[in-house]
Amino acid sequence: MLTDGRTLRSSVVSSQIALHAAHGGVVPELAARAHLEGLATVVDAALAPVPGGWDAVDAVAVTRGPGLAGCLIVGTMYATGAAVGRGLPIVGVSHLAGHVYSAWLADADLEPPYLALLVSGGHTECVVLREHGVAERLAATRDDAAGEAFDKVARLLGLEYPGGPAIQRVAASGDPARFPLPRTRIEGAFSFSGLKTAVRYMVRDLGADALTPAGTPRDPRVVADMAASFQNAAVDQLVSGLEAAAERCGVETLAVVGGVAANRALREAVVARFPGHRVVVPPFDLCTDNAAMIAAAGWQRLRLRGPDEPGFDVDPSLAECA
Ligand code: KG4
Ligand code: ZN
Repeated sequence: MLTDGRTLRSSVVSSQIALHAAHGGVVPELAARAHLEGLATVVDAALAPVPGGWDAVDAVAVTRGPGLAGCLIVGTMYATGAAVGRGLPIVGVSHLAGHVYSAWLADADLEPPYLALLVSGGHTECVVLREHGVAERLAATRDDAAGEAFDKVARLLGLEYPGGPAIQRVAASGDPARFPLPRTRIEGAFSFSGLKTAVRYMVRDLGADALTPAGTPRDPRVVADMAASFQNAAVDQLVSGLEAAAERCGVETLAVVGGVAANRALREAVVARFPGHRVVVPPFDLCTDNAAMIAAAGWQRLRLRGPDEPGFDVDPSLAECA
């Protein structure tokens, strides 16, 4: 829950990591069911510390897309029921806008224009927020997203899900120069499938004797060096893409948002590559998916465009960024 768009009153996140870890990735049907089971508890917990509870709420924001249809429908139905039942306005918000606004929420001095590198499990984008409600996408996800590449490479190396934190952990003691990996550079886009495939071949080329029955490297030294080499290449691709976007739009203030922004190597590389720029990276809890960022983007949307008509459709491939 937020007051005036950027004062955080409460934030409750129900993680599904344990549920999906057993499958090595998100299972859509399980995700939607878990949303259904957990939603009321999470909303109650978010309102518990707020005097008046629901009576203190002026408007409801909900994610309309992009994402898994089942999850979006569960959330939108619940939010619509709550809003209509209490006569409150409702706004359907883009998940991408939420990530872009997580920086605005995290830093009380930040105002547009700023350029956001949005790196999550489903997206790798450069978005410039020109003014509130007006965003332009300067680079978009071509195939695998950055977080997806971390998750898939972790699997190839026999590390747990989610792969980002696991790779960061073992990479800390690895040699990033041991395994040379390609960097893909495309004008106006990010591609991570080539890098992921290169790791797959690198593992295969170790030979059967060096691999476990599951096909992952036996030697923890090799795992650490491969993780470090991959992280290095991934960060390099991201920072180069951000550099190209920054040159194109000429905006001086940068933000790194989305789950992969939790990566220490990425944070440090962005700060190092843009010495004269202001770089905002939200705290970990606002980088990974959370409802507070949706409320922040929703507050601006409500202010600028008014409420949505209850009953609006979800959009699993919504591209809107503000
Ligand atoms: O934004 P997010 O919470 O969910 C989506 O919208 O996708 O991002 C989740 C992604 C996962 O792919 C996860 O592996 C990655 O963020 N991630 C990280 C780190 N922590 C989470 N990637 C790299 N390094 C990390 N420390
Ligand atoms: Zn996200």
